[in-house]
Amino acid sequence: MAQGVLGMNARNAGFIQGFNDRKHYPLVDDKLQTKRLALAASIAVPHLYGVISTPQEARGLPNLVAGHEQFVIKPAHGSGGDGIMVVTGNSPRRGGQYRLIDDSLVSAADINYHVSNIISGRYSLGGHRDCAMIEYFVQADDAFAAVSYRGVPDVRVLVFQGYPVMAMVRLPTRQSHGKANLHQGAVGAGVDLLTGQTRHAVLDGDSVDEHPDTGESVVGIQVPSWATLLELSARCYELTGLGYLGVDLVLDREHGPLILELNARPGLAIQIANQTGLLRRLAIVGNRPPPREVADRLRFVRDEIAPIRGDRVPLATAIS
Ligand SMILES: Nc1ncnc2c1ncn2[C@@H]1O[C@H](COP(=O)(O)OP(=O)(O)O)[C@@H](O)[C@H]1O
Ligand SMILES: [Mg+2]
Repeated sequence: MAQGVLGMNARNAGFIQGFNDRKHYPLVDDKLQTKRLALAASIAVPHLYGVISTPQEARGLPNLVAGHEQFVIKPAHGSGGDGIMVVTGNSPRRGGQYRLIDDSLVSAADINYHVSNIISGRYSLGGHRDCAMIEYFVQADDAFAAVSYRGVPDVRVLVFQGYPVMAMVRLPTRQSHGKANLHQGAVGAGVDLLTGQTRHAVLDGDSVDEHPDTGESVVGIQVPSWATLLELSARCYELTGLGYLGVDLVLDREHGPLILELNARPGLAIQIANQTGLLRRLAIVGNRPPPREVADRLRFVRDEIAPIRGDRVPLATAIS
């Protein structure tokens, strides 16, 4: 294992078990609960059009999405982008067909089938029964338009004990079908915590300078509203009580920064995207109780954490 890089075993035993109390997991494993939690704290999230929990309710989908040309169907207990269907065209003129983000057309029966798969637990952790969330399709900020292929990029911030310690922006590709998850084939670009600019990027574990579909450079892009994104991420510590947390945010053209979801077992590839190991950053935070004021934590991030530069993480480092 390369020096300074957090590996799978140390993450699980040292950080997830050590800092994430299991009793808080439902708050983040269930995206509906996360939405409620965020709204109660006045943190904006994509609007929920409705929830489908039974096959009978699935028949009401056309009513739920009436008037919404675009929407997203998502398993409440999903992860890694699995089971997320992005619908970009919902027009009665098309004879009951829906258009998906890859331009394919599907019938109402196809959509119903997908929803029933979600309900039966096909995409949920442990295969338990689930429900399908129908939500607003985020209108991506133009900042990433040149480096996204049909989908909404998201910003992942890793928050340790309330301190944002590392970040990346994930850019959808043709392969990732409108989703920004690395395992779906999105590009991950490390973001400098200080400036909010992308520095280095990876695709399927290899270094890339350009987006594979648009050919535009993925390095040196300024993430808009960077200070706000850091602040929202830091606040998710109080929101959940989880010490080791992955926060996914999106930037909506009209609504600004929104919390998309939270993760109690965030992946390790953020280190490859940043060419920087996590261990030094985690160690500097240590396990002392964090200051209550978010502003104090953000000052510490700026002065002590952000300046820590890479250990040149080898791309072949075996982390997932
Ligand atoms: N409401 C939405 N609007 C647009 N894109 C979305 C929306 N929800 C999810 N996505 C896309 O799917 C990806 C995964 O969604 P997320 O809610 O983080 O679920 P998961 O737990 O599967 O990662 C996001 O990064 C984004 O690219
Ligand atoms: Mg996610």
